[in-house]
Amino acid sequence: MNTRLLSPTPDHIAQAAALLRAGQLVAFPTETVYGLGANALDPAAVAAIFAAKGRPADNPLIVHVADPQAAQALCFINDDARALMAAFCPGPLTLLLPKRDAIPAVVNAGLPSVAVRIPSHPVALALLQAAGLPIAAPSANASGSPSPTAAEHVRQDLGGKIPLILDGGPCAVGLESTVLDLTATSPTVLRPGGITPEMLRTVLPDVRVARSVLRPLREDEKALSPGMMYRHYAPKARMILVRGQPSNVRARCASLYRQACEKGETARVFAFEEHVSAYEAEGVPAVTLGSLAHLDCLAHDLFALLRQMDQEGVELLLCELPPPTGLGLALRNRLSRAASFHIQDADQPL
Ligand code: TXA
Ligand code: MG
Repeated sequence: MNTRLLSPTPDHIAQAAALLRAGQLVAFPTETVYGLGANALDPAAVAAIFAAKGRPADNPLIVHVADPQAAQALCFINDDARALMAAFCPGPLTLLLPKRDAIPAVVNAGLPSVAVRIPSHPVALALLQAAGLPIAAPSANASGSPSPTAAEHVRQDLGGKIPLILDGGPCAVGLESTVLDLTATSPTVLRPGGITPEMLRTVLPDVRVARSVLRPLREDEKALSPGMMYRHYAPKARMILVRGQPSNVRARCASLYRQACEKGETARVFAFEEHVSAYEAEGVPAVTLGSLAHLDCLAHDLFALLRQMDQEGVELLLCELPPPTGLGLALRNRLSRAASFHIQDADQPL
């Protein structure tokens, strides 16, 4: 199949909407990452998403709608959901709510809940309006690889498999939406994103964060969100995260970097801007993660940086960690998954 990459003019958005109504797949930009969309009410179209991505059928999809009224047709909206939507939607927040019968089982893996999101990207909203349908859309990457934050990433992963990619340029947030379960006893963040727990608590003070956000599932533990079972956001390189006092982190990264170089491995150190010159003073080149004071810039760039490391044939990635607060929680979550939870504490001897 020839994959067309088109600018989001009104005419091209109308073409994309027509494809969706005809049961085809369209990749489109959102403020978080690019999505791979299909008519959420057409089970065959939704099944094609799973085939194109190589996604396991038990990993449910997010349904995108233009406004709370459209969401109301798909799920039961309670007071908490209404308050959160008033505060944060349209935006990078996905709510898990009890589903209505309209949702085909292929969309939500037959669960009692459905994930709904109102994206804020003007192209996503225009496409929803033009199609007049709810759009089921996971991130538009091949299953397991980093989410696409540019149209070119979508072409790398899905070129030849889908008819159309709307190119809206780079995504503003760069990390997938916050997934908040409102069917749990207390509202629970299953996947942190651009809307942080601190922000959510300004509306619902009892928001908690699932244990699995920063830790691997125990063998006996059930995944609250099936997506958490899978290796995710992963570059091809082996990745080791290093935490602890900055000087200890630097010493550990430098030592692992030198060992790798001696073995002839292609290694890179990812360090925050504030620490880069200290690495360089030790003769260790470091790729900057940007400033600790601007984690939104790292969120914006992270997935592109991981894809770039693949293209450079990097075999080992050694990476500093941001603090687990604010956007740092989402970054730690994605980095931990990219590294398959391979984390060293530099304050402890090896
Ligand atoms: O920012 C985003 O959310 C992007 C854009 C395209 O909107 N979409 C996205 O979709 O990241 P996806 O499929 O890559 O991630 C959806 C996550 C998965 O971890 C999935 O398991 C979880 O949401 N999820 C969806 N429906 C669920 C449900 N009913 N119960 C539990 N988890 C659910
Ligand atoms: Mg995804």
